[in-house]
Amino acid sequence: MRTVSVIKADVGSNAGHWRPTAELVAAVEDVLADEGAFLDDYFVFTVGDDVDIMMSHTRGEDDDDVHRLAWDAFEAGTEVAKEQGLYGAGQDLLEDAFAGNVRGLGPGVCEITFEEREAEPFLVFGADKTEPGAFNQPLYTAFADPRYTTGLLLKDTIHEGFTFRVMDLEHTDDGARRIELDVPEDGWDLTALLMEPHRFGIEKILSRATGAEVAAVSTQKLRNVAGEYVGKDDPVAVVRTQADFPSPGEILQPYATPPFVAGAMRGSHHGVFYPIQSDGGEIPSYFDGPPLVKAIGMVLNDGRFSEPVYPFDATFWDSVRDDAATRFREFRERQGAFGPGTVETSELEYGGWTDIMESLEDRWTVAPEQSPSATDD
Ligand code: F6R
Ligand code: MG
Ligand code: MG
Repeated sequence: MRTVSVIKADVGSNAGHWRPTAELVAAVEDVLADEGAFLDDYFVFTVGDDVDIMMSHTRGEDDDDVHRLAWDAFEAGTEVAKEQGLYGAGQDLLEDAFAGNVRGLGPGVCEITFEEREAEPFLVFGADKTEPGAFNQPLYTAFADPRYTTGLLLKDTIHEGFTFRVMDLEHTDDGARRIELDVPEDGWDLTALLMEPHRFGIEKILSRATGAEVAAVSTQKLRNVAGEYVGKDDPVAVVRTQADFPSPGEILQPYATPPFVAGAMRGSHHGVFYPIQSDGGEIPSYFDGPPLVKAIGMVLNDGRFSEPVYPFDATFWDSVRDDAATRFREFRERQGAFGPGTVETSELEYGGWTDIMESLEDRWTVAPEQSPSATDD
């Protein structure tokens, strides 16, 4: 069985929480080149301030060596970030030392395991300034809504439906809490979970026709890991495509009507999920947003990654970007901090609001309620 692991971290960036330098990325790649001989392949890309490492191997998920390699690569990136005085150097490496597995240590992890098909096309998504639940709506639309994915109506194996494995991101006391729901039968219940993207995140999607894993999303919640704000949980996702699975066009279509997702400034606002191009020119420079999503298409060939294709480079997506920027500005500039402009107070990524509430505690006054009979007297 083949496993594709995508492990990502923000270990420092230039000019703010914007993007890493070329030297930082080169240091990450050098470690993979020097120590990654046991991999079949690797590929490194960036989205905003995040470095995303894709690794192809046959060691299965949660493998010590695979996770250690990513950790070592991020430590090398951190060294460069420190040397160059970059902002947030080592931000997502929450522990001083690696302990068997990067889960819980800060980096985001998404792993998918499958028998490589004769041709194995897939998409990788990386996002910045948002949360894992940002993928809830696009993945639900692509895998569960036949108004959009007509493959659910036209292709027998796709018509058999999919199993969504959803994680409860707030349940951290006694291990991970998961549920599996099948579409179409459990579609409404699935919607009820996914409508709450801060709490419920899709971890995997499996084909009911073949049992194969089709999609995987990173589901870490850094705040729950670290106990305090250390950056947003900028997620990654892998989606296998074509044949028995939705086509890349069906997977990408929902990004043309991008949802509002949590993130942008201080991880505490709502912004429009904004599809970006490959050239690295996109930085979250308007209100630390908009929340960015990059997509990369590839095939795997005997475990090796092909050259990347960037679907959002197509000129079609220029109009989507224009719309998304207009919607985000309109919303942000009209709404400010009020109501849905910011996330609900329990989700605010900084503690300042809670401190204000505490500081005001003694200044409230309470007038005893007057009963109607008291006023009659
Ligand atoms: C959001 C993010 C940024 C920072 C903001 C303030 O995920 O990373 O919006 O929260 O730029 O950053 P600090 O507190 O580091 O000055
Ligand atoms: Mg950062
Ligand atoms: Mg980031």
